Amino acid sequence: MTQKFDFHVTATDGAARTGAIHTPRGEIRTPAFMPVGTAATVKAMLPENVRATGADILLGNTYHLMLRPTAERVDRLGGLHRFMNWDRPILTDSGGFQVMSLAALRKLTEEGVRFKSHIDGSSHFLTPERSMEIQRLLGSDIVMCFDECPALPATDAEVAKSMQLSMRWAQRSRDAFGDRPGHALFGIQQGGVTRELREESAVALRAIGFDGYAIGGLAVGEGQEAMFGVLDYAPGMLPEDKPRYLMGVGKPDDIVGAVERGVDMMDCVLPSRSGRTGQAFTRRGVVNLRNARHMDDPRPLDEDCTCPACRSYSRAYLHHVLRSQEIIASMLLTWHNLHYYQELMAGLRGAISEGNLSGFVGAFHAQRAEGDI
Ligand code: GUN
Ligand code: ZN
Repeated sequence: MTQKFDFHVTATDGAARTGAIHTPRGEIRTPAFMPVGTAATVKAMLPENVRATGADILLGNTYHLMLRPTAERVDRLGGLHRFMNWDRPILTDSGGFQVMSLAALRKLTEEGVRFKSHIDGSSHFLTPERSMEIQRLLGSDIVMCFDECPALPATDAEVAKSMQLSMRWAQRSRDAFGDRPGHALFGIQQGGVTRELREESAVALRAIGFDGYAIGGLAVGEGQEAMFGVLDYAPGMLPEDKPRYLMGVGKPDDIVGAVERGVDMMDCVLPSRSGRTGQAFTRRGVVNLRNARHMDDPRPLDEDCTCPACRSYSRAYLHHVLRSQEIIASMLLTWHNLHYYQELMAGLRGAISEGNLSGFVGAFHAQRAEGDI
């Protein structure tokens, strides 16, 4: 077992890359999709089942875990990997983004963010230094810098001011993280949809130096066209020899477009969250299994899918357990959606390796255009 964290690109196709991140807890094949395990669980899934879908790494959240069960308790219980029974890599988000969307009474200063818990109203203060300490106590393999993501709509001046604060926090995160062999610290680029601000942010992050670089502040309501507009230049501003992580993205076509533009890692609640509401992602697009048209349908959700939901159950059964609010509905549809996402990533990696990404992307869009059968 190596104690090193490193990244190797094995093939490129246009701006897209495929390769692997090596960590002491195992390899992360890239482009990688990270299922979200916010509260020390990927909801409705056993960790071994998440692994069976093909996931190499999970995402956890500083914000949720600091409030409940607390980072100190997770540390006393042997760290997050042991606590949740996942021994492969875990990336943790730093908390700033979640504070801004979930907490009450937020007060932002140069020092950090004071806020009240959405669970019990208790007061907390999160700073770059405290976020690094929490992520260390959790035992995170990939630690994210503490940053701020401005709420939209925002003026250019507001986005610039927020980005510059995030860059000062990135330096404080770097200083507080220190030297931890086998663990990585990723910087987070901000700057909204303005090229000059993205460039200023990239220059600041490169000067500090990180093990990987995230693209933050996207998929916050700007729309796919604007997001792809930023992704046409933002990955190229970040070091070629380090992983690039697009935070909080996305729908299957967002993922395909991001990979085409040079993104190596992504995370999103969409496959797990929408599984729990009855939305299934398939090669032919989204299927809403709550729809009455499935009530008498004996066919599987996707006859070519090898997940348990598709191998052993009918659309009629999935419809029934969803309508009856049975727990197995969440289990089966989350499994299917995570399986679909990981198959998509495997397909992208294979296509990049073979130099056939445009063929793969063409077939991806053509199949979706056909619609559900
Ligand atoms: N998740 C989605 N977007 C962001 C972002 O800009 N910053 C952080 N820390 N997490 C995110
Ligand atoms: Zn399936």
